[in-house]
Amino acid sequence: MQPSIKKGAVLTLEIEKFADRGKSLCRRDGYVIFVPGAVPGDTVKVRVYKRRKKFAEAAILEIVTPSPLRVAPRCRYASSCGGCKWQHVDYQAQLDAKTQSVREAFEHVGGFDEVDVRPAIGAEDVYYYRNKMEFSFSAMRWLTPDEIASGATFDTSFALGLHAPGNFAKVIDLEECHLQSELSARMVNGIRTFVKQQEWSVWHVRRQQGYLKHLVIREAAHTEDLMVNLVTDHWSEERMAQFAAFLQSSFPEVTTLVNTINSGVAQTAFGEEMHTVFGPGTIRDRIGDATFEVASNAFFQTNTKQAHVLYEAVREAAGFSPTDLVYDLYAGAGTISIHVAPHVRHVVGVELIEEAVENARRNAKANGIENVTFETGDMLALFNPTFTDRHGKPDVLIVDPPRAGLHSKVVAQIAQLAPERFIYVSCNPLSQARDLALVRDAYDLHYVQAVDLFPHTHHVESVAQLTLKK
Ligand SMILES: C[S@@+](CC[C@H](N)C(=O)[O-])C[C@H]1O[C@@H](n2cnc3c(N)ncnc32)[C@H](O)[C@@H]1O
Repeated sequence: MQPSIKKGAVLTLEIEKFADRGKSLCRRDGYVIFVPGAVPGDTVKVRVYKRRKKFAEAAILEIVTPSPLRVAPRCRYASSCGGCKWQHVDYQAQLDAKTQSVREAFEHVGGFDEVDVRPAIGAEDVYYYRNKMEFSFSAMRWLTPDEIASGATFDTSFALGLHAPGNFAKVIDLEECHLQSELSARMVNGIRTFVKQQEWSVWHVRRQQGYLKHLVIREAAHTEDLMVNLVTDHWSEERMAQFAAFLQSSFPEVTTLVNTINSGVAQTAFGEEMHTVFGPGTIRDRIGDATFEVASNAFFQTNTKQAHVLYEAVREAAGFSPTDLVYDLYAGAGTISIHVAPHVRHVVGVELIEEAVENARRNAKANGIENVTFETGDMLALFNPTFTDRHGKPDVLIVDPPRAGLHSKVVAQIAQLAPERFIYVSCNPLSQARDLALVRDAYDLHYVQAVDLFPHTHHVESVAQLTLKK
């Protein structure tokens, strides 16, 4: 502990390494100071804005000596927008940091020694890689430090863009974004001008009223399909007719328009009603040889090209043979099941959301895949001896749970079922390492392959390969 470091103190620090959630850190006599936006190798002058017993947080005042790992960000909002936190970091350094975060999770949380964490597989496209972007409307525009410093005057009663990091009330009015495509950025600007001309009200987070809430753009990577999903507080036939006419004349690339109605106060792009205004209400995209139909509210990996890399890493880790029975647990719209089905005897997928399961069944049929069975249900309730009696003991069991990981009872059930090969796909190495520590006595952990689906963010996917101990 460093009693001499007080809130408000100005310090000069040498940044040591990346830490949790994309921040960087340095240590003074063992006392940790987190510095958002800093890069390992930087010498920075900072002001401490938070002081706790075990750590402090400090904001950069000046970069005294920049790290050799710094690069020029492409986007003018890079230092203030929550969409990308690492645009100013060399891509190889981002990958190294992700590999290291997986290693540290397995060592520190899982208690695994000498785990073979394979270097994160990087993306070819580090910009314009997302197939889905969710922009927010706000009646309280948040001005970035650069905008304030410019001295210009801004209309702060309207914003359409992304949030500042960690703050859902702060929406930046984005005129550029390099995450989806140039067309998507043009659409954001065109839609902003149109709705302002129409004088449609936008969501006011304090008053909790306003018509426009979110703009979701889904753009397929491998087909020409392009969906606009406008999330509004209520249905207005007249406005939707005007909006449809505007899109069809200004952005003829749009193949379908959906209007989601979310009349609640939760800031989410999901809602209680969906209207397909024109087009089929879905888009199609391809991963490997399979084509997937994606509805406006369906989960689909947001980086189509890297999803293929991730699924290939699963295939490699599983070492499938044509006689294998495979369980794909937490199956979403069945993308992993359908990807692996041609290489095995049968796949059983389990997923909580009924619509996703219906999607998965339709996707299997549309791709001529007949050796898959999907069940809807909560893993905790469904995954029991009756389930495994019904489907048979799997040779390979794949899990791909949400960030929170697996319930310990699900882990216990997997250990009891004892499949020969166990593949754990995760978007959170901390919960993955915690869960796998529970099967250490029954399984050998051979390696963990990190895969990067989200360049310029700290997020990482990882595929762990385990086999039953002999
Ligand atoms: C990370 S996604 C994986 C989806 C799929 N494997 C993919 O690559 O697109 C996790 C999925 O688990 C589902 N899920 C969450 N909790 C669940 C539960 N308790 N039982 C079954 N499925 C669950 C979610 O609905 C979501 O589709």
